[in-house]
Amino acid sequence: MRIINVAGARPNFMKIAPLMEAYRRCKEIEPILVHTGQHYDEKMSALFFRELEIPEPDINLGVGSGSHAVQTAEIMRGFEKVVLDFKPDAVLVVGDVNSTIACGLVAVKLGVRLVHVEAGLRSRDRSMPEEINRVLTDSISDLLFCTESAGQENLLGEGVPAERIFLVGNVMIDTLLRHRRKAEASAILAELELAAGRYAVLTLHRPSNVDDPQVLCGLLEAVDVVQRDMPIVFPVHPRTRANLARMGLQGRVEAMRNLRLIDPAGYLDFLKLTSCARLVLTDSGGIQEETTILKVPCITLRESTERPATASVGSNHIAGTQPERILAAYRAAMAEDPATYQVPPLWDGRAAERIADILAQKLPELTARN
Ligand code: UD1
Repeated sequence: MRIINVAGARPNFMKIAPLMEAYRRCKEIEPILVHTGQHYDEKMSALFFRELEIPEPDINLGVGSGSHAVQTAEIMRGFEKVVLDFKPDAVLVVGDVNSTIACGLVAVKLGVRLVHVEAGLRSRDRSMPEEINRVLTDSISDLLFCTESAGQENLLGEGVPAERIFLVGNVMIDTLLRHRRKAEASAILAELELAAGRYAVLTLHRPSNVDDPQVLCGLLEAVDVVQRDMPIVFPVHPRTRANLARMGLQGRVEAMRNLRLIDPAGYLDFLKLTSCARLVLTDSGGIQEETTILKVPCITLRESTERPATASVGSNHIAGTQPERILAAYRAAMAEDPATYQVPPLWDGRAAERIADILAQKLPELTARN
């Protein structure tokens, strides 16, 4: 079975890494790796390939940035040629970025089986580009692998046949558990002169948070209060850095003496930063899951989550973007005992192995039905 695996943007790389490793002991599968080039900066892409020991992609489409339509279209143009050349038995896509839906759509239009890893997550917020990518990708996938039971239930509710859905755990957590020991050796805390357990980490990149000056200013107001209690490290996404400059907010940020802006961190440094943090504030999806396994309180700066287990059993608080609500969640989180946090079932570091085994068994059956 020849499978083309697609990675495009930073949050895809930690999901693809354990799959590429799992294929090595699965002789039925011949993997091909395609990087779409959606993310291309050294610190957003190449660094992750090195640290996570992901093989060099067989193909890099090099599409780069653009509007959603242009980026999606460019990926589709480039990827169609790849599928025609390699004639795979299946295409596997992960997560919810533009590369996910673009390559998924190309595959099914060419009659190639589509596999979606991290299927079924729903925020129910259709203003999020990722929600559209998730709904569309799931609706055209042949095999759907879920990280948590809510994903399974959502898919069943949308009419996906049960025999196509598999609850396998979380490939991103596979990567975290595999690299945790190595991350302990990172010197990032010493470099930033931070003491374990006595600082917070902040990430912000979602367009709804960083493209609107009013929302961004509200978030900074809450950040200002928290940084009076403890230092905050803020690895800044390129979009956010550009917006802070464009909106003239650099002075506001620099005035917060305990807020430390740094470049986007590599995987190991970031894992060290989050695992030793007292608190994480983020609008990311994946970081809600990472803090759950690390048992570090997480304040999610969004109105909803597509990863409900992180809040129902894990350390996550869905706080929205209003300063008062963020600060209320902050106080509540600081009063909690991390020993009460739990980890969702199957987040045990073996999701990729389960996926490879299921693919080896199910794909021949599916392709035989062609
Ligand atoms: C994308 C994903 C988002 C994911 C995020 C992680 C979609 C719709 N969104 O958002 O789900 O959480 O990645 O980072 O796919 N840029 C650079 N260098 C890069 C990449 C981007 O400077 O290597 C800048 C460009 O100005 C670009 C902007 O960042 O226009 C946004 O990049 P893009 O890939 O469009 O989306 P993200 O906001 O990164």
